[in-house]
Amino acid sequence: MNELVFSGIQPTGNLHLGNYLGAIKNWVALQHKYRSIFCIVDMHAITVPQNPAELLHNVRLTAATYIACGIDPEKNIIFAQSSVPGHAELAWILGCSTPMGWLNRMTQFKDKVNTSKLELKDELKKIKANLNEYHEAFFLMRSKKARALASIKKSTDELESLIEDQNKVEKAELGLFSYPVLMAADILLYKTTHVPVGEDQKQHLELARDVAGAFNRQFKTEYFPIPEPMMADWTSARVMSLRDGMKKMSKSEESDYSRINLTDDANAIRLKIQKAKTDTERSVTKNLGERPEARNLLNIYCALANIKVGQEVWADNYSGLSNRWGGFGDFKKALADAVVSAIAPISTEIHRVMNDTSYIDSILKSGAEKAGAIAEKNMREIKRLVGFPVV
Ligand code: AMP
Ligand code: TRP
Repeated sequence: MNELVFSGIQPTGNLHLGNYLGAIKNWVALQHKYRSIFCIVDMHAITVPQNPAELLHNVRLTAATYIACGIDPEKNIIFAQSSVPGHAELAWILGCSTPMGWLNRMTQFKDKVNTSKLELKDELKKIKANLNEYHEAFFLMRSKKARALASIKKSTDELESLIEDQNKVEKAELGLFSYPVLMAADILLYKTTHVPVGEDQKQHLELARDVAGAFNRQFKTEYFPIPEPMMADWTSARVMSLRDGMKKMSKSEESDYSRINLTDDANAIRLKIQKAKTDTERSVTKNLGERPEARNLLNIYCALANIKVGQEVWADNYSGLSNRWGGFGDFKKALADAVVSAIAPISTEIHRVMNDTSYIDSILKSGAEKAGAIAEKNMREIKRLVGFPVV
C-alpha cells in the first residue's frame, strides 16, 4: 500500500519522442495504479549552464507537456524540484555516505568529460621529443626506419589531443559529478518504491539503490525502500536519433531533424520521417541486427502500435511484420501516420496549455505544496536518524 512512483525529466528544451516512449507514456499508464509524483528536475538542468529566462520557460513547457500527454495534475503531483528544499538537503546527507568511486564509474559523467591522468601529458612530451630526434636522424640517413617513426609520431599526436581533452576534467563542475546523488535524493526523499525511466537511466538508478542501502546500513535502519526500476516494456526503451542509429535521440543534439519534438505539427513530423536515415537494403525487416537505423524506425513503429516483439523483431523476416510493407516508402508512410496520430494531438494540447501561464504556475504551486508536505515530514525523520536536532 505504500507503493509510490516518482520520476523526472530535465527542463532543457523541447521534450521528444524518446522522452515520450521511454518515460511519459509509461507514466500515463501508471498514474491510475500508483500514487505518483512527476518532477521537473530544474536543479539537474543547471549541471550544465542554462540561460535563466530559457530555463524558466522550459520548466513551464515541461509541465505543459506532462499535462498534454495525459498526466492528471489533480490526481498526481507535478512540481519543480527547486521548489522543495528537501532535495538539496537530502543530497548532502546522502553524499556523505557515497564513495567517490561509485560516481567515477557513471558513464554519463564520463561521456560529458573525458577522464584520465594529467601526468601522462608530461611523459608524452618527453617521448615526442625523443621520437623527433630519432626521426630526424633516420630521415637524414634515408633509412626505412624513418617511415615507421613517422607513423609512431602520428599516434603520439593523436594521444596528445586526447590528453588535451582531459583538461576538461579539471574544469568539470562538482554538480555534474554529484548529479547521481541528487537523483538518488529525489527518489529517496519520498520513500519511492518504483521509478519509471528510459533504459539510459538504468545505471543512475542502480546507484540510487546502492545509496539507499549504504544509508540504511550506516544508520542501522530500513528507512529507505530500495527503489525498483520500471522500464517501458517495448523492445528497447531507447529511441535513437533519426540521423544516426547509434546515438540516442536527445534534446541537446544540434540538428532538429534528429528528433521528433512533442511540439512538432503533422507536417514537420512527416517531413522528418521522410528524411530519416535508412540504408540500401530493400527489405524493412531483414538483418536488423546490423542495421541500427532501420531497427530504430521499426522499434518506434512497434512501440506506437503496441506491438510487443521482444527480441523476435531482430530475427529475419519476422513473420508478423515482414509482409506488411513493400519497401521503405511504404513503411515510412505507415510510420509517419502512427507518429502523427500519437504526437500531433499532444502538440496541439501543449500549445494550448502554454498559452495560459498562470494555469501552469498554479499547478506548479499546488504540486510544490503537496510534494513539500511529504518531503518535510520525511526530512524530519531522516534528520532524527542522522542525529541532527529537529526543531
Ligand atoms: P532527460 O530528457 O534526459 O531528462 O530524460 C527524461 C526521461 O526520458 C528519462 O526517463 C530518460 O530515460 C528518458 N529518455 C530520454 N531520452 C530518451 C531516448 N532517446 N529514448 C528513450 N528514453 C529516453
Ligand atoms: N537523471 C534523469 C534524466 O536525465 C532525470 C532525473 C532526475 C530523474 N531525478 C530523477 C529520473 C529521479 C527519475 C527519478 O533523465
